[in-house]
Amino acid sequence: MSDATRTSKARKNPNHKKRRSRRTAATSDKHELYELSVQGPEAEGDFVDKAFRQRRRRLARSIREDFCGTAIASAEWVKRRRDNTAIAVDLDQSVLDWAARKLPERLDPEQLGRLTLRRADVRTVRTPPVDCILAMNFSYYIFKTRQGLGQYFKRAHRGLVEDGLFLIDAYGGSDSFLEMQERRKVSGFTYVWDQHSYNPITGDAVNYIHFEFPDGTRMNKAFAYEWRLWTLPEIQELLYEAGFSKVTVYWEGTGDDGEGNDEFDPSTVGEACPGWIAYLAAEK
Ligand SMILES: C[S@@+](CC[C@H](N)C(=O)[O-])C[C@H]1O[C@@H](n2cnc3c(N)ncnc32)[C@H](O)[C@@H]1O
Repeated sequence: MSDATRTSKARKNPNHKKRRSRRTAATSDKHELYELSVQGPEAEGDFVDKAFRQRRRRLARSIREDFCGTAIASAEWVKRRRDNTAIAVDLDQSVLDWAARKLPERLDPEQLGRLTLRRADVRTVRTPPVDCILAMNFSYYIFKTRQGLGQYFKRAHRGLVEDGLFLIDAYGGSDSFLEMQERRKVSGFTYVWDQHSYNPITGDAVNYIHFEFPDGTRMNKAFAYEWRLWTLPEIQELLYEAGFSKVTVYWEGTGDDGEGNDEFDPSTVGEACPGWIAYLAAEK
């Protein structure tokens, strides 16, 4: 896979709907734009089902969505099967309030009853044990030290049932260490991924998401990320140190066009391409 736009926060959302009125910065909702730009909850739900079945030989029922933001993955999960449940955890009350307003449009009352929004720090949260914990869109890169990330991974390990699975994603490749911007047209606006700064001595990266509109207006720094760019070997080592018994990397396959094909399968050899996204499945 070589398309630089695959580097980080470049998920495809196949459900973009055309809007009749033109979007502008003033009339747009940044959380809606974020969902349209980088999230693909159905594909994510499919991947949870596939990985859980492969690793645990059964279907997952209960999930915890860490760093949930708008909780769209949890909403998709409770819609998926009648006995599915989800706990969605985030530290930011404002995004949880957004989710609480939006969920009744997305779910019927019975489905809503199977989804819990929880304001908490993922490093200290206590929840009933779940089959699967998700931490997607690289959110755990916010923890910049081995101790901090290790504390989170240990908490996730504790939050799982005996045959539970911790599913996270990661990004990397040579482009991820560059200060550069990528633009991608979404329905009625342009998504800008801005790798603003990278310090090779500490591994610290500052990234922004901006949105641009056809009328020339712009939502600058709609989202800001101060991360450490972790590598896959470091992440795997920390998962084992946190107590996980087996870690499998799911690497993306290559289509006939030479680009990533959105199919992720277990692999021990990756491709040294400019931009990649991978998943890690850590078994308790
Ligand atoms: C990149 S967004 C992730 C949104 C969504 N889950 C996704 O996959 O795109 C990161 C979210 O993590 C939340 N967050 C940051 N630090 C956190 C912490 N220590 N505990 C819980 N949530 C945290 C932020 O409030 C933000 O909503």
